[in-house]
Amino acid sequence: MASSGVFLPCFALISLLFACSDAADYVVGGTEDAWKIPSSPGFPLTDWAKKQRFQIGDSLIFKYDGKVHSVLELTEGDYQNCTTSKPIKKFTDGNTKYELDRSGRFHFTGGTEEHCFNGQKLFVDVEPAAHYSENELSTVFAPAPGPSKADGLRVGFMGCVAVMMAALFGIVLV
Ligand SMILES: *[C@@H]1O[C@H](CO)[C@@H](O)[C@H](O)[C@H]1NC(C)=O
Repeated sequence: MASSGVFLPCFALISLLFACSDAADYVVGGTEDAWKIPSSPGFPLTDWAKKQRFQIGDSLIFKYDGKVHSVLELTEGDYQNCTTSKPIKKFTDGNTKYELDRSGRFHFTGGTEEHCFNGQKLFVDVEPAAHYSENELSTVFAPAPGPSKADGLRVGFMGCVAVMMAALFGIVLV
């Protein structure tokens, strides 16, 4: 009996820990083989991206045939012009996980100018870090002295941590 008394709160804690890591992975285009030259004119991948709400820490997953395709991250200017000769980053592994580690816009194209000109282009906008108000924050944490801004954390995450702390105290008190 004693062991189940410990096991249950531990299990709850571990579940909460998992719930706290709320970074999401997005398979680009929503399907496995979307990273390719689109079959019709336009930019279906960017259209897809506009419907998502990317946040810092989320990742894009590019799935593609690494023999035919690659993923280039370009500057905005190179992206506009399809200049693929000096990418910021280049990936050829066929299953590329790209972490969106800041807010703002990221630009991707296929590995060649031809692929780019044929519409294998994607840009994504990552939302600013702080999309909660100071008031919301102060309900999660008691007023902290000084200018302590928790940029980069989400209120969901903070709330989750608060619940975890509460759970921890609950266990200690029991
Ligand atoms: C893009 O092309 C235009 C027109 O050729 C040129 O003026 C501009 O400098 C280019 N931009 C970049 C970043 O290469």
